[in-house]
Amino acid sequence: MAIRYNQEHKVFTLQTKHSTYQMKVDSYGFLLHLYYGGRVDGSMDYLLTCYDRGFSGNPYDVGGDRTYSMDVQPQEYPVMGMGDFRNTALIIRDKDGIAGSDLRYVSHTISKGKYALKGLPAVYASEEEAETLEIILEDCVSKVRVRLLYGVLEQDDMITRSAEITNEGTDEIMVEKAASTCLDFLSGDYDLLSFWGRHAMERNFQRREIVHGSHVIGSRRGTSSHQYNPAVILAGKGTTEDYGNCYGMVFVYSGNFMCEAEKDQFEQTRVILGLHSDLLHYPLEPGEALVVPETILSFSDRGLGELSLQFHRCIRNHICRGKYRDEPRPVLINSWEAAYFDFTGETICRLAQDAAELGIDMVVMDDGWFGKRDDDNSGLGDWQVNEAKLGCTLGEMIQKINGMGVKFGIWIEPEMISEDSDLYRQHPDWVLHIPDRKPLRCRNQLVLDFSREEVRDFIFGKICSVLDQGNIEYVKWDMNRSIAEVYSPENAPGKAAYAYVAGVYDFLEKLLCRYPNLLIEGCSGGGGRFDAGMMYYTPQIWCSDNTDAVDRIRIQYGTSFLYPVSTVGSHVSAVPNHQTGRSTSLHTRGVVAMAGTFGYELDPDKLTAGEKEEVKEQVKQYKKYAELIHKGDYYRLSNPFRDPFAAWEFRAEDGERVLLHVVMLEAHANMAVSYVRLKGLEREGIYEAVETGKRYYGSALMEAGIPMPVQQGEYLAYEMELVKVRG
Ligand code: GLA
Repeated sequence: MAIRYNQEHKVFTLQTKHSTYQMKVDSYGFLLHLYYGGRVDGSMDYLLTCYDRGFSGNPYDVGGDRTYSMDVQPQEYPVMGMGDFRNTALIIRDKDGIAGSDLRYVSHTISKGKYALKGLPAVYASEEEAETLEIILEDCVSKVRVRLLYGVLEQDDMITRSAEITNEGTDEIMVEKAASTCLDFLSGDYDLLSFWGRHAMERNFQRREIVHGSHVIGSRRGTSSHQYNPAVILAGKGTTEDYGNCYGMVFVYSGNFMCEAEKDQFEQTRVILGLHSDLLHYPLEPGEALVVPETILSFSDRGLGELSLQFHRCIRNHICRGKYRDEPRPVLINSWEAAYFDFTGETICRLAQDAAELGIDMVVMDDGWFGKRDDDNSGLGDWQVNEAKLGCTLGEMIQKINGMGVKFGIWIEPEMISEDSDLYRQHPDWVLHIPDRKPLRCRNQLVLDFSREEVRDFIFGKICSVLDQGNIEYVKWDMNRSIAEVYSPENAPGKAAYAYVAGVYDFLEKLLCRYPNLLIEGCSGGGGRFDAGMMYYTPQIWCSDNTDAVDRIRIQYGTSFLYPVSTVGSHVSAVPNHQTGRSTSLHTRGVVAMAGTFGYELDPDKLTAGEKEEVKEQVKQYKKYAELIHKGDYYRLSNPFRDPFAAWEFRAEDGERVLLHVVMLEAHANMAVSYVRLKGLEREGIYEAVETGKRYYGSALMEAGIPMPVQQGEYLAYEMELVKVRG
């Protein structure tokens, strides 16, 4: 039993393999948080203390007891209005604008399996793998009801949380802030690890001490954003890759979010993760409900490396769905950096011909195939194939490509519209905009109001009529701007941002229902919507528009803390790199792109005969390792922001095989030797390097490492496969 309720003490215990999460209904009906961390036994309510604290008020029903205050007690779902002056999980205003809530326990249920969220992505699991706890809290004055949901995947060390807020009263209420998770820690010093960035430089790693005051990250851009990823880690001060306590929090949502971390006046730490309050002003009519997207939580007492593995497995097996959750992803060649808008049907067929010769599985026709779209100023919304540009119908082109033994994929950007498009001329009112104001242009495009069913249905019809023209096995779903105008005539102003994301999910779900075997790769100017919400529909996401191998090492490093390699869209591109102007060897580019879904983003005709041979080898190599890379355990072996080399390792699930990749980041005269230490090996096991036949003890490889060659050259990459010859 992963979830237990102790009737006598009114204590809920959620137990996973290595962690315990506990909460308690106290004598006043408040749901207090007791503990989250390494496995413990017994009730942790002895941790609660009560003292008379100045300026910390006391709920009326505690009578003359001046020691009991919500300002100090650790809570599961703190609300604004009960004397908790810290950041709270929920702010509700009544019809008169008054923010006063008081949530008390009503009932709970424990059931087998994992709850699902209507219209929202969420972790899924079988009845055997998960249990659900549902706790109902209610405000007896306003009749606001909060349904707290907890999913426990015991063996996976995962706990999920969500909340549903229902207006059971008779007047409209306004939800001003809603989070799915609050974590309160009674003591300890923590760092917040977050992943910030910008277009083409996503998910830089930042580690910052949580001090007094509030550290807030989030997105107001309508998407989860390049700027902050909706996932954080809370780590003990001394926690490293291999040692110490840490907690991961991943928001399963692709829109505005907010994470607040604060240390309070009594040195207690609170972290809240949920919807961004700046853009939430969500009216609930009597009987209406708001579902707050889910947070996935996990704890590790074995450092950040182990925490990452737990999230990798969870997202791979319990978020990603469909055929490509388990099947190998096609190695693809994409036309974007090969030709940009400057292509014809012949160009795409030539890429397919090259693909066939090089062993690449699929050709993807990127932006520029529809409407009037020879640059990025027009055509979005007009999802009609530009047959004049292709020189044939799409169906004919696909047949030709398939005839070469190559699969075909296509780029779309359904949420967008160009002012210079037939669709805009017909339906200017379909665009997200604020009445009487001019909309913000970004990449010269506007955003379609995907919160409106009629708009979605129209685009859906258009996209399907393209997809029905031939054997299209892959779609790259792009989204190339932030959303500034959060107003929709069909949705109350403060609902629009949420309704927009729900609309995107609805569209994706319908698309997958109609084309269950379609592989969708998410994209938003690269990694602007790289989140677990999208991964529920798109098991891979173009990780960044930056394909420079050296920058990618750092982008993929940051990404790896919470997301599995199988979700990371990564390609080999031409040199000098189009984003940085840097040149690296084909080998180095290959090694870096292999820590992802792998493919090419270049024109093979510009490669020398020797390079083509090398590409053939790379593709073979990748296919040989694909299963190990996607399903194996991924270990970070260095910090590329600090160390002179980047190193990572893939270890087969059964531990029998290991693939080590290293890229030197510095070049100096008379270099010092770099030693790379492996992880996750069997200490007594003997491992043989496939290329040299040399044998090493697992303990030696992990404790002392292996020396990297000292060679001249920039960004040299090394690969080493090791097989276990004796356990
Ligand atoms: C975005 C994507 C690119 C490419 C272009 C096409 O920037 O991230 O990969 O598809 O759009 O316009």
